[in-house]
Amino acid sequence: MSEVNENKGMIRRFLDLPTDSLPKTIFVAVMVCLVGSMFVSAAAVALRPIQEVNKLLDKQVNILQVAGLYEDGVDVAEAFAQFEPRVLELATGEFTDQFDAASFDDRAASSDPELSIALDDDPASIGRQSRFVTAYLLRDANGDLDKVVLPLHGYGLWSTLYGFIALEANGNDIFGLQFYEHAETPGLGAEVDNPRWKSLWAGKRLADEDGVLQISVTKTAPAAGADYHVDALAGATLTTAGVHNLVRFWMGEAGYAPFLANLQAGDI
Ligand SMILES: Cc1cc2nc3c(=O)[nH]c(=O)nc-3n(C[C@H](O)[C@H](O)[C@H](O)COP(=O)(O)O)c2cc1C
Repeated sequence: MSEVNENKGMIRRFLDLPTDSLPKTIFVAVMVCLVGSMFVSAAAVALRPIQEVNKLLDKQVNILQVAGLYEDGVDVAEAFAQFEPRVLELATGEFTDQFDAASFDDRAASSDPELSIALDDDPASIGRQSRFVTAYLLRDANGDLDKVVLPLHGYGLWSTLYGFIALEANGNDIFGLQFYEHAETPGLGAEVDNPRWKSLWAGKRLADEDGVLQISVTKTAPAAGADYHVDALAGATLTTAGVHNLVRFWMGEAGYAPFLANLQAGDI
């Protein structure tokens, strides 16, 4: 008997089995899984461009929010166009035109061996740090610098928190801080998103008159005083410590300090 006839025999024998037989049950289960996974894969591929657009939109909304420019119903793209994105070299604190600022991917850069460094001293627990980041400059009607929005990230208790800090043009006064991505516990570490806690950052200062970095996020105010202190999150000591460490890391010498010195010297 030919192989084709043998196969026909197998198919016929399979079709003749009772509906609730084990081979038919397994066959149906496998087919359901296959068809289901094809739908999920097709949806994931088809929706990826929309996800990318939404991610970009969310980032822009967060930058607008931290700079106090977001209102419900605002045209995000139009409002965001007020910002001048510039790629900043952290070590020199100077802008570079080596990359296109509109499309530079800070997060991809921090895992690129060519563009990032492995950290020995790593209080923010990020492992590697990109040598380049995107800064967002906001200018007033006269073209003078009004605010600068800088990205920062670091580990909390369960997750890396990604956010932005908005500074006044003097490079020392904080206008706002907010995180746009993290996986801390709702009601505990996730209270970093609570508008009441976020509002505590407005008007705080990074460094004292001697240029010493004093900002802290702790339960009790440090000797430097309330101007440099943001209250800890209740019941979330570990997330708070993460935020304290990441803010101090990014605002310190390994982070934006060279850029902030240039800002204060009026070189931007
Ligand atoms: C399920 C669960 C989730 C928690 N999530 C967080 C969190 O997101 N951030 C945090 O700092 N602590 C979290 N904690 C609490 C910490 O384990 C720890 O008790 C807390 O940080 C101590 O804060 P306190 O000294 O302010 O009470 C969580 C605890 C449990 C049991």
